[in-house]
Amino acid sequence: MSRVASWLGERLPISGAELRELTNEPVPNHLKRWWFALGGTPAYLFVVQIATGILLAVYYQPTPRTAYESVRYITDQAAYGWYLRSIHKWGATLMIAAVVLHQMRVFFTGAYRKPREINWFVGMLLLFTTLLTGFTGYSLVYEQLSYWGATVGSNIADQVPFVGKLAKEMLLGGAAYNDRTLSRFFVLHAAVLPAAIVALVATHIAIVRLQGVTEFRFRDEPEGKPATFQFFPDHLYTELIIGLILMVVLSALATALPAALGPKADPLATPEVIKPEWYFYVAFRWLKLFSGTVALLSMGFIVFVMFTWPFIDAWLRRTTRLEEVSVYVGIVGVFSIIGLTLWEAIAPH
Ligand code: HEM
Repeated sequence: MSRVASWLGERLPISGAELRELTNEPVPNHLKRWWFALGGTPAYLFVVQIATGILLAVYYQPTPRTAYESVRYITDQAAYGWYLRSIHKWGATLMIAAVVLHQMRVFFTGAYRKPREINWFVGMLLLFTTLLTGFTGYSLVYEQLSYWGATVGSNIADQVPFVGKLAKEMLLGGAAYNDRTLSRFFVLHAAVLPAAIVALVATHIAIVRLQGVTEFRFRDEPEGKPATFQFFPDHLYTELIIGLILMVVLSALATALPAALGPKADPLATPEVIKPEWYFYVAFRWLKLFSGTVALLSMGFIVFVMFTWPFIDAWLRRTTRLEEVSVYVGIVGVFSIIGLTLWEAIAPH
């Protein structure tokens, strides 16, 4: 063993002590609560998505003639295909839910404030990249609903001033959905967007490491005790336990509610009701509430406010002298999102 260690040591001159120093970041005590360490959950689920996605890609064939049949083959015939597909589908749902909950935790604890504005911005990019990955993935199935969802989605992109038309044409590989479209979705879904997520998560975590997470102190913490604990192995154990619980939950969901397959896409028959995946309900209902341009401009404005929120919050706190003005804005925001989502879920059209 020591010969192997000295062989390696000559080639990779890192000592055990240096490695411990690198991983042994002291972590504030509040990270023992899941709510505060929620950022690890989407990271874990992303790894599950990569592993199951690679296995699905072995059988998936991205052309309009073959896509639906290949998904049917995965679901009905390939060994454990139904299970892997269902884990991938539920993994996407839980990953998006975890990203949103993590963002809510960061928002309501004001953890985006100076000096963490840049990491909030990186987080917003992660939110949109994750949502886009969900959108492109759903479109790959080539069911009626996913086909028409993609068509509606690209038509919405078309209405964005200046860049919309180009974005739509680049996404579809032409002016309308055609034979080349699915391979574009596939490249985005399986290569470009996951690579972007890896780069963004690496930047996000590097910034967290540089700055450390925001320190909070709770009333029930005894005075005088150290306010931190070690990342390795204590926090890693917590993350491992969360990972195991998530795996059991994912597996149970995949088995009890496996991914189904709707009717095959028919480009000539528009379905009576077109609905995207649940995480786009809020945007879809918003677009239905207002006319085209007003809906898009107002949505663009909301997205702009979300990206620049740390600066708007600082300005609001300076001018109103209300320290927790963000909490009121957050409560209105969360109730609006839940309300619009439920409305879209219940409404027949
Ligand atoms: C794939 C998506 C994401 C991953 C994997 C991720 C991962 C993490 C991790 C591991 C942390 C360390 C502390 C914790 O667990 O809460 C963290 C902190 C943070 N995240 Fe994220 N995050 C994601 C998305 C987002 C989003 C959407 C936002 C907001 C727009 C955001 C903003 C922040 C901020 C500001 C911090 C610092 C919090 C503090 O100092 O307490 N993240 N993130």
